[in-house]
Amino acid sequence: MYLQKRNRILRTNASIRSMVAETILTPNDFILPLFVDEGENVKYEIPSMPGYYRYSLDLLTEEVKLVWDMGIKSVLLFVKAKDEMKDNTGREAWNEKGLMQRAIKALKQTVPEMIVMTDVALDPYSIYGHDGIVKDGKILNDETVEALVKMSLSHAAAGADFVAPSDMMDGRIGAIRKSLEENNCSKTGIMSYSAKYASCFYGPFRDALDSAPGFGDKKTYQMNYANRVEAINETLQDIEQGADIVMVKPAMAYLDIIREVKNRVTVPVSAYHVSGEYAMIKAAAKMGWLDEQKAILESLTSIKRAGADLIATYFAKDAAAMLG
Ligand code: PBG
Repeated sequence: MYLQKRNRILRTNASIRSMVAETILTPNDFILPLFVDEGENVKYEIPSMPGYYRYSLDLLTEEVKLVWDMGIKSVLLFVKAKDEMKDNTGREAWNEKGLMQRAIKALKQTVPEMIVMTDVALDPYSIYGHDGIVKDGKILNDETVEALVKMSLSHAAAGADFVAPSDMMDGRIGAIRKSLEENNCSKTGIMSYSAKYASCFYGPFRDALDSAPGFGDKKTYQMNYANRVEAINETLQDIEQGADIVMVKPAMAYLDIIREVKNRVTVPVSAYHVSGEYAMIKAAAKMGWLDEQKAILESLTSIKRAGADLIATYFAKDAAAMLG
């Protein structure tokens, strides 16, 4: 058989395949989400996220030293607020002695170069488990944005490098940028969850922080997964309002959105490989139905190939260990 072009030549062996590989994962790509708890010596395994833990501050700092040595340069903090701290104003969210604020300071003291990003949304502090202030069964936008501004300022004052609003209220990026500028926090960046879909894949995360909505769902603020063009609008608006990094979330069911956003913007694009995506791989691997390590690398590479410059993933440590 005569063939003018034999495509398999470039797949002949591992050396050639790696020479022509278009997408190379590195630990620089990862943002490691971390769950923070009160107390001491707490390392609580989240039932729906096997192998993933909530740490008290003493163990959290140890973990962060370890992951820094593995080449991970950025962490994204989430806290579990005690029930007695929860109300319908979110006030604990900007308590300067709150768990988040103490966590930021502790990490910055332990590993000053680690990029500390913080979740900005009211759900861990809400008696209703919603990302905003509730009135008559509705989530109020503008009142919530005021709370998010206070929350962002207190994270910035504690030393956060980036605040990461994950609530999907309208206008919050502009309001946060403005207040950072006006309050001597012009060095703090914003990573906006700009295209965040109302997704069932957040289930295990809500177990991790005990933050499931008490009534209804999040569909009046998070996006309808049927939509594509809306993701572009949301993202372009957030960039105009001052977002330094934008995000698509979840990741694997939204690779088309990641690519489309990447093609349209000139800021770094992040993707959040969420808790349910972690849980699926873990569960299938436990049953012996998938090779966990291979599934991790294939998933993360596909997210990067789709256009993500950064990937928030619970597999950051596993992947960094394999790549190292
Ligand atoms: C809350 C928040 C959620 C996640 C990140 N920030 C859950 C939600 O919106 O209900 C999900 C992360 C994950 O599932 O890994 N603002």
